[in-house]
Amino acid sequence: MASPHLPLLLSLFLLFSLYSNADDLTSDQAALVAFRNAVAPRLTEWNSSNSSPCSWKGIRCSSNRVTHIRLPAIGLYGELPSGVLGNLTALQVLSLRHNFLTGTIPSDLARCTQLTIINLDSNSFSGDIPSAIFSLPLLASLTLSNNNFSGPFPADFNNMTQLNTLYLQYNQLSGEIPDLNNLTNLNNFNVSYNNFNGSVPASLRNMSADSFRGMTQLCGQPLPPCAGAPSSAPAPGIVPSAPTPGNTPSAPVNPSGGGGSSSKLSGGAIAGIAVGSVVGALMILVLLVFFCGKRNAWPKDPATKPMVGAPAMRPGEMAGLPKRSSAYPLGEPVGSGPASVATSSSKKLSFVGNLSRVYDLEDLLRASAEVLGKGTFGTTYKAILETGPVVAVKRLKDANLPEKEFRDKVSELGAMQNPYLVPLQAYYYSRDEKLLVYEYVPMGSLSSLLHGHRGSDHMPLSFEARAGIALSAARGIEYIHSTGPRASHGNIKSSNVLLSGLNEARIADQGLAQLVTTPSLNRSARYRAPEVTDIRKISQKADVYSFGVLLMELLTGRTPSNAVNNEEGVDLPRWVQSVPRDKWKTEVFDLELVKQQTAEQEMVLLLQLAIDCTAQHPDNRPTMYEVASRIDEIFLSVSGQ
Ligand SMILES: *[C@@H]1O[C@H](CO)[C@@H](O)[C@H](O)[C@H]1NC(C)=O
Ligand SMILES: *[C@@H]1O[C@H](CO)[C@@H](O)[C@H](O)[C@H]1NC(C)=O
Ligand SMILES: *[C@@H]1O[C@H](CO)[C@@H](O)[C@H](O)[C@H]1NC(C)=O
Ligand SMILES: *[C@@H]1O[C@H](CO)[C@@H](O)[C@H](O)[C@H]1NC(C)=O
Ligand SMILES: *[C@@H]1O[C@H](CO)[C@@H](O)[C@H](O)[C@H]1NC(C)=O
Ligand SMILES: *[C@@H]1O[C@H](CO)[C@@H](O)[C@H](O)[C@H]1NC(C)=O
Ligand SMILES: *[C@@H]1O[C@H](CO)[C@@H](O)[C@H](O)[C@H]1NC(C)=O
Ligand SMILES: *[C@@H]1O[C@H](CO)[C@@H](O)[C@H](O)[C@H]1NC(C)=O
Repeated sequence: MASPHLPLLLSLFLLFSLYSNADDLTSDQAALVAFRNAVAPRLTEWNSSNSSPCSWKGIRCSSNRVTHIRLPAIGLYGELPSGVLGNLTALQVLSLRHNFLTGTIPSDLARCTQLTIINLDSNSFSGDIPSAIFSLPLLASLTLSNNNFSGPFPADFNNMTQLNTLYLQYNQLSGEIPDLNNLTNLNNFNVSYNNFNGSVPASLRNMSADSFRGMTQLCGQPLPPCAGAPSSAPAPGIVPSAPTPGNTPSAPVNPSGGGGSSSKLSGGAIAGIAVGSVVGALMILVLLVFFCGKRNAWPKDPATKPMVGAPAMRPGEMAGLPKRSSAYPLGEPVGSGPASVATSSSKKLSFVGNLSRVYDLEDLLRASAEVLGKGTFGTTYKAILETGPVVAVKRLKDANLPEKEFRDKVSELGAMQNPYLVPLQAYYYSRDEKLLVYEYVPMGSLSSLLHGHRGSDHMPLSFEARAGIALSAARGIEYIHSTGPRASHGNIKSSNVLLSGLNEARIADQGLAQLVTTPSLNRSARYRAPEVTDIRKISQKADVYSFGVLLMELLTGRTPSNAVNNEEGVDLPRWVQSVPRDKWKTEVFDLELVKQQTAEQEMVLLLQLAIDCTAQHPDNRPTMYEVASRIDEIFLSVSGQ
């Protein structure tokens, strides 16, 4: 018996609810659900049957409105939908950093006039800087770094008079930097590694040169003076070194031009070439190759050839790079000298994915090299190519797989693309020599950070930094595990966690265990799960165990060891579990952490997670997804945003 009044009642009800709720929590909740449906399908706990969105992960409310959205590094994916965030008109803080968001920022964000903090760092947003932000009068902090924004730097920034923090580094912005004379509160400013040109405007001359790194076309205080301006030093980009034949111009390696701390600057510039725009890097490379091609036509000085054992003047030394071995060691055991290897046209590097051939084996052999470390699967060198780029070259040992199998497996590794993995760029296969070429990560490994010398210049590592490093490492391993039920890393340890930022890391050496043909159980024993008998067959749960040991290392500052091998150090899992909880603070945690007297509760949570990861039976260990989610919660509560 259908009532004829029902449609009328229903529409009245709908009208009423729309009208009265237009600006309240129900409407905010609807917007959040639309946001989840668009970019965060995994946030199942954001559930409309759960009455208040204020208790949802990453959400904070005030006066019954949503005021904070903080969802760092939780795998948001896709484009922000339009007509959604703009409905959250009470929003004050929007932090979506370290996700995989693409596209542009919807213009309706302009309706969120209460916004004071926007942090979209480390996503893949593109297009112009969103004009919506210029209508946000209270905006105090804007972070758009590590994205793919392009186009100009609008003078409209002057509209945001409250702005004190503006981070735009690592984008593709171009043209001239406008005078920001309206922004009197601007304290934190960084536009490094964009494509700006022209001179630094008057209002920004008080900023440090570090705020303008990696842009050879930008000049004027605090950078070297512009060409044409009265000066004693040449502007960057103009060949700065003496015309020694075979010498490569150092300007692109050291774009900031300063002489004093050049090795540090080079490190940053190298990071810029490696991490910054592919397009930009390619252009620099093309220019350099062109330039060097010309140079090579000059009569060669024999001393510039890297003959084995003979010290040679290397381009890097001109740029003030740290000392290194003078001869590149790759040619030695092949029997034939490096020159004969290079001249054989069949011996070429294979690039993975759709990377183009920006250097070749010949360049690697000519590069000057420095040993970075001798690891389980071979020795890794830092190679500074004459054409500018720096790469990490791993020379595999005991990798005697047949060629086809080797190539298939390495191609699979190359297909793994994730911000928390060190990218493989190329490889080389011959019967005697197998090389893997990776992007160079300049800040070293977690192992050297934790166990390197703690001299007077040693910076204590905060808990926030440790939690951030743990989170990125967990995300990297989680990604590897997500590629297939049997996919594992196989060699998780602190020397395979490379630092890419203050609170950030990347996982190195993924999948190498599968390339090894003569496994030795002694290797990696200190992180190995008890059930592992063959290092080529490491399960995901065994990775989780190793990661648990790594967490313990991170929290205690101690080197793990294996009692069976009688090594120095302690068997971390056994030792941690032997100490009662109430003694953790005094006996277990790194003294450096205890001294900082912060985040005690979070430290305990992280150590508890480490203990769960190192459960004796694999079934009792959490999955890497659970591990990463738990660290995410911990990091969120210590990092604020
Ligand atoms: C945003 O608000 C408008 C009306 O104010 C409404 O029509 C629309 O459905 C809302 N969008 C979302 C995603 O809640
Ligand atoms: C929402 O949560 C309830 C319990 O809180 C659950 O029964 C329901 O399946 C969830 N809905 C979705 C769509 O996840
Ligand atoms: C500057 O801000 C005002 C409101 O504060 C706004 O009306 C105006 O459109 C903004 N200008 C630009 C260029 O967005
Ligand atoms: C960045 O944007 C440029 C165009 O501006 C595009 O060609 C390039 O593929 C983008 N890179 C990434 C990593 O999205
Ligand atoms: C500079 O700030 C003032 C208010 O302090 C504002 O009226 C003016 O429009 C701003 N200039 C620009 C170019 O936005
Ligand atoms: C900066 O580059 C743009 C092209 O991208 C060009 O039009 C402009 O003249 C350049 N400005 C200076 C000062 O070199
Ligand atoms: C730069 O700093 C000096 C002192 O440190 C100060 O006197 C001057 O006003 C500042 N200039 C600008 C443009 O902020
Ligand atoms: C700006 O960012 C670059 C790249 O991350 C960094 O090397 C530099 O130190 C930063 N400068 C400042 C002043 O923070």
